[in-house]
Amino acid sequence: MRAILNADRNWGIGFQNRLLVHIPSDMRFFREHTTGNVVVMGRKTLESLPGGRPLADRDNIILSRDPSFSVKGAAVVHSVEELQQLIRDIETDRVYVIGGAEIYRLLLPYCDTAYVTRVDYAYQADAFFPNLDDMPEWELTEESEEQTCHNMEFTFRTYRRKQ
Ligand SMILES: NC(=O)c1ccc[n+]([C@@H]2O[C@H](COP(=O)([O-])OP(=O)(O)OC[C@H]3O[C@@H](n4cnc5c(N)ncnc54)[C@H](OP(=O)(O)O)[C@@H]3O)[C@@H](O)[C@H]2O)c1
Repeated sequence: MRAILNADRNWGIGFQNRLLVHIPSDMRFFREHTTGNVVVMGRKTLESLPGGRPLADRDNIILSRDPSFSVKGAAVVHSVEELQQLIRDIETDRVYVIGGAEIYRLLLPYCDTAYVTRVDYAYQADAFFPNLDDMPEWELTEESEEQTCHNMEFTFRTYRRKQ
């Protein structure tokens, strides 16, 4: 599986169930990677999407512990084991973990790649991604040139799990 996210200087990813930043080229990057593929997200992230609806043109899988939770246009699973069962026949590179903090933490051990749009600013945040720079099993393998959007400076980073 692959994780895809944007994070600030402190690995902050959200505040009050919203994203910290909206950068058009980051959204395009996200769309290009995930369209036609599988996205896995937590119930809270689903609720933070426009209209609380699953993402179009992707197979959406929602994690919730609530056995009665259901949503039109998405599969709901209740554990990592159930998720693994559901995606067992899908190429792992086609499965994108798209948040939020709890689900990234839960599924990072099953990911081999993380696409991080890294914004060079410290926002107020209450949701965080694990700091990959401090994790010896992960390495930064690629980073784009610095880009700017409305005074925000950011780069597209790729981290990979060491072999
Ligand atoms: N920057 C980014 O790229 C990015 C991307 C996505 C989200 N975010 C941000 O992240 C924040 C939301 O993160 P969050 O941690 O609060 O919520 P979350 O990870 O989206 O969802 C948490 C929910 O997932 C379910 N869950 C968690 N562990 C589970 C398990 N082991 N088995 C089954 N279900 C499980 C539970 O749902 P139930 O309560 O229904 O049981 C839990 O409440 C928001 O601020 C959002 O904007 C940022």
